[in-house]
Amino acid sequence: MIRFDRVTKKYEDGTVALKNFSLEISRGELLVLIGPSGCGKTTALRMINRLIEPTEGSITIDGRDISGIDPVELRRNIGYVIQQIGLFPHMTVAENISLVPQLKKWDREACRKRVDELLDMVGLEPDTFRDRYPSELSGGQQQRIGVARALAGEPDIVLMDEPFSALDPISREQLQDDLIRLQSEMRKTIVFVTHDMDEALKVADRIVVMNEKRLVQTGTPDQLLEHPADEFVREFIGVHRRRKAQNGVPTVNDLMCPAPVTAHPDQEPAETLRLMKEEGLEALFVTDTRKRLLGIVTLEQLEASRHENTSVGHILKPPPQGVSARDGLGEIAAIFRDPRIPMVPVLEADRLVGYVSRTSMMDGLAEWGKVGD
Ligand SMILES: Nc1ncnc2c1ncn2[C@@H]1O[C@H](COP(=O)(O)OP(=O)(O)OP(=O)(O)O)[C@@H](O)[C@H]1O
Ligand SMILES: [Mg+2]
Repeated sequence: MIRFDRVTKKYEDGTVALKNFSLEISRGELLVLIGPSGCGKTTALRMINRLIEPTEGSITIDGRDISGIDPVELRRNIGYVIQQIGLFPHMTVAENISLVPQLKKWDREACRKRVDELLDMVGLEPDTFRDRYPSELSGGQQQRIGVARALAGEPDIVLMDEPFSALDPISREQLQDDLIRLQSEMRKTIVFVTHDMDEALKVADRIVVMNEKRLVQTGTPDQLLEHPADEFVREFIGVHRRRKAQNGVPTVNDLMCPAPVTAHPDQEPAETLRLMKEEGLEALFVTDTRKRLLGIVTLEQLEASRHENTSVGHILKPPPQGVSARDGLGEIAAIFRDPRIPMVPVLEADRLVGYVSRTSMMDGLAEWGKVGD
């Protein structure tokens, strides 16, 4: 519904703020723009409500080029929330919230009802807060009023530029939770700018990673975590962030050892035994050269046949049930109920990408607990 077509912004001093930026944002989508300071996030966002005009390219909303829409008219249908929310200090909460409805000439009763409804929505008791002034609110409460104000005129689109970044971590988490809940009820088109990858992974339907005024990669949180397009994205996401991705529940991805040591079927038992002792392993997966999983050998088995003229391929046992990196803790725990299973292979299609052992699971959970704080 919002479409950037090769948009560039160049200032008169020669600064390029956005370069050849193309993006389609669907109706009802919560899209997050993320990237380092100065990469062009705010520029892209403020172009949607024509606070900044492109030098090249075009932006359309529902197929209409916005350069032909009166900016004042356009902004009535686009809510806007910024970091320092800028409530009007001499107006009460109710007056601040009902600014746009009044511009839209709603009658008094409709405005009053809307204010109470919005206060409820953002988790503030209407009777307590309606007649307060902004200076009588905490930072988190002010930001909630900012969100309420942006939603007041029932806009189709809401732009949010680092709306929660000035808040303490607890208020921030609460407002993120509120946003997710509100969005599940309202399904607005929301464009949300942040510096914070944890926040992006938590709230986004889709993330756009930007760097040096350009779009680097777009994808769902899962897609970015699984397939970062390049080193920049990988660095930006950071390995530890994977742990927070699944709404606070650890996944196989968090508990597994990636890049496991494996044996080849042609290997001799004695050689394989040495390798396992070096690595401190009780069992080893056997794969072919394409990392397709063929089976498993245990220390016991190898000890028994170490003097025989045989190969690993001849003594291996069928592989235990595998899991995918996206499976949850529950799947792994259920498999480990069987005490004979030393480790669980993690498979992507038929290729071995890692394994979970009881030790790696405990280590992963301990780490998870730290990061989740
Ligand atoms: N009025 C202006 N004149 C010249 N350059 C500008 C102007 N406004 C922004 N810029 C430049 O455009 C680039 C992109 O700015 P923008 O505000 O979009 O970055 P951002 O990604 O939002 O950064 P931050 O995360 O720090 O808010 C920056 O290099 C900035 O210095
Ligand atoms: Mg900015």
